[in-house]
Amino acid sequence: MKTDRIFQIWQHELERLDQDHLLRKLPVIESSPTGRILMAGREIILLASNNYLGLSTEPTVVKAAQDALDKYGTGASGSRLLSGNLDLYQKLEYRISALKETEAALVFSSGYQANLGLISTLCQADDLILSDALNHASIIDGCRLSKAQRLIYNHCDPDHLQDLLSNASAAANRWIITDGVFSMDGNLAPLPEILDLANRFDAYVIIDDAHGFGVLGTNGGGITSHFSLTDSRLIHVGTLSKAVGGLGGYVAGPQVLIDLLINQARSFIFTTGLPPPVIATAIAAIDLIAISPERRQRLLNHAEYLRHQLRQLGLQIPAGKAQIVPVIIGAAEQAKQLADQLLNLGLFAPAVRPPTVPPNTARLRLSPIATHTDADLQTVVQAFAACVHANQP
Ligand SMILES: Cc1ncc(COP(=O)(O)O)c(C=O)c1O
Repeated sequence: MKTDRIFQIWQHELERLDQDHLLRKLPVIESSPTGRILMAGREIILLASNNYLGLSTEPTVVKAAQDALDKYGTGASGSRLLSGNLDLYQKLEYRISALKETEAALVFSSGYQANLGLISTLCQADDLILSDALNHASIIDGCRLSKAQRLIYNHCDPDHLQDLLSNASAAANRWIITDGVFSMDGNLAPLPEILDLANRFDAYVIIDDAHGFGVLGTNGGGITSHFSLTDSRLIHVGTLSKAVGGLGGYVAGPQVLIDLLINQARSFIFTTGLPPPVIATAIAAIDLIAISPERRQRLLNHAEYLRHQLRQLGLQIPAGKAQIVPVIIGAAEQAKQLADQLLNLGLFAPAVRPPTVPPNTARLRLSPIATHTDADLQTVVQAFAACVHANQP
């Protein structure tokens, strides 16, 4: 067969990944992805969910989805510029811009698409992008898609960023792009320092608040609310798939930016609008976020508890204030082994390995959910303690 040769090449590639302990397989979850899940018929504590506030199963959110299903049906039927722009979008975009304190917002079909569309539209061939070394893949891909020159600054290092900006006067526009809360590390970008540099060097800042939106700040407004920052140089990106518990991405900023994206962002134009229940879900969830400070606090307390307890066991847990708690292991093989041991003990915290994280920094990325009970977290710590004990030489 003509295809045999290419299949063999693919098979070798998979075998190589397996030998390097980097082969990924899809886990199967048989229940809603909240605090406790069913896997292969067993009840397991889930520590790998971005449904941080547990809103995906919240009754008012589910009811909003059901009502939208009854009223609008299952699908958008077209791109937003054709038949897919349901009136629900206006309500959702209004809420996002209110929470982000911007003039306007635009919802994309995912956070990935929001980054792709935003960066490739704004950053032109004679521009310069300065991108944090640990930015999310969707930012990296957006940068690759743009024709701008790219420079990578050391992770969360304003001094290095300043050095690069000092030598960048020839660029037509300078764009600093960073995750707000880093997705695999849980630390916060030094946004006040970055904005200060942006003002000094006449640059613009794109901040991806995927993991801060709904979690940080007084009303869940995210990283800018956390730092009490507003600035006309800031452009906000985020997602509705994490704390909001559904699907979709957004860009928030001035109306003129939103109008430009509607006209030129290819990942916005050439794709179908979100299913109506998904948009309704996000509206209901954001309404809840605005009035649920106790959920956010509970989530952040959970994360702090895990950081403290796991450090006591001698595990390497970087400093952090957000809800993501990485347990740094190093070798991919060991990270995978620990994840497998924990699964046997009833915890699902899969190993995150290169290329998602840099080489030799494989880890378990723990993310508690506000709906976890204190007893759940005690079980988590006990399971880690048992593994640490079992793995001692
Ligand atoms: C920082 C960051 N940006 C963007 C995304 C993509 O968001 P979505 O899942 O909505 O495509 C993610 C998701 O993992 C993320 O962590």
